[in-house]
Amino acid sequence: MAAARSISCVKHLAESPNLSSIPTNYIYHTDPAETEVEASIPVIDFSLLTSHNPLHKAKAIHDLDQACQDWGFFILVNHGMPEELRQGVLEAAAEFFNLPEAEKPEFEPKNVLSPIRYGTSFNAATDNVFCSRDFLKVFVHPQFASPHKPQSLRQLLPEYCERSRDVVSKLSKAISQSLGLEETEMETELELRSSLQIFVANYYPRCPNPEAAMGILPHSDHGLFTLLIQNDVGGLQIQHHQRWFNVNPPPNSILVNTGDHLEIFSNGKYKSVLHRAVVNDKTARLSIAMANGPSLDAVVAPARRLVEGEGVVAAYAAMKYKDYLLEQQSGQLDGKTMLKRVRIQD
Ligand code: OGA
Ligand code: NI
Repeated sequence: MAAARSISCVKHLAESPNLSSIPTNYIYHTDPAETEVEASIPVIDFSLLTSHNPLHKAKAIHDLDQACQDWGFFILVNHGMPEELRQGVLEAAAEFFNLPEAEKPEFEPKNVLSPIRYGTSFNAATDNVFCSRDFLKVFVHPQFASPHKPQSLRQLLPEYCERSRDVVSKLSKAISQSLGLEETEMETELELRSSLQIFVANYYPRCPNPEAAMGILPHSDHGLFTLLIQNDVGGLQIQHHQRWFNVNPPPNSILVNTGDHLEIFSNGKYKSVLHRAVVNDKTARLSIAMANGPSLDAVVAPARRLVEGEGVVAAYAAMKYKDYLLEQQSGQLDGKTMLKRVRIQD
């Protein structure tokens, strides 16, 4: 009988003594001239989005509309997420990756819909180029799952997920309005009451030759909004006007990127943003991406009222979110390839 084969994670590889360069299947070259150092990425004040002052709220919704149209990405401040919780979750995720290797195989998944998935790269079974990261992905809504260890993660995960969902629910209402719809139209059409929420912890070890590797290859996220926090180490880059920008978030902020299903729902008004994560040779980086999508059972198409006027056509074909997710996750991570499959050529 074949013994269960467990993944060889990149953390373990990076910690092997005398590693002076990465194995060839990790080699990914970028053009250093492509990267911008400075960028003034939009900042959205969450407290104004939920303000009772109609003028403040209208201004914040306008800013959100601009940020989603121009960048597909923004920095959220005054979000109300307690700093201890943010730090606690980051530390708890680090503890998970620091568990002895022998204790991790039980978290390896059976398939892409397994509620708890520990793995490396993106899809280690099919990737040509390996991403220099290990991940833990946990489905936390509509059914809540959690690894049973470490204890700290088990304790903090429910609150972190709930608070993130609350932020996303308020963002969805604001976006619904910025699209010219009623506040609740987005949550109704996409069945957000049973929204899919995935907690993704990414561990990017120190890399001996970071210019020849990539932590996560360029991609867009499949959901609506991803909320991202990180330890103090940078690495996220977003694409804007065909160039890559480093993202250096102010302390205590949450990074938000828009995903494919927001692009579909908005009928292309809010394009999902391409992003990637670079690695460095000094410090390990840890990020937590909270992915928030429609309900897995929702059949997603452009918002009904956005395509009912004369001369307006739906630019994306309807597809069940679950089918989209399965198709995207079973292939290789490759820019916006999956989204192009539902895009109707015009
Ligand atoms: C992701 C992702 C970027 C980062 O998990 O989808 O894009 O900075 N992560 O870790
Ligand atoms: Ni992503």
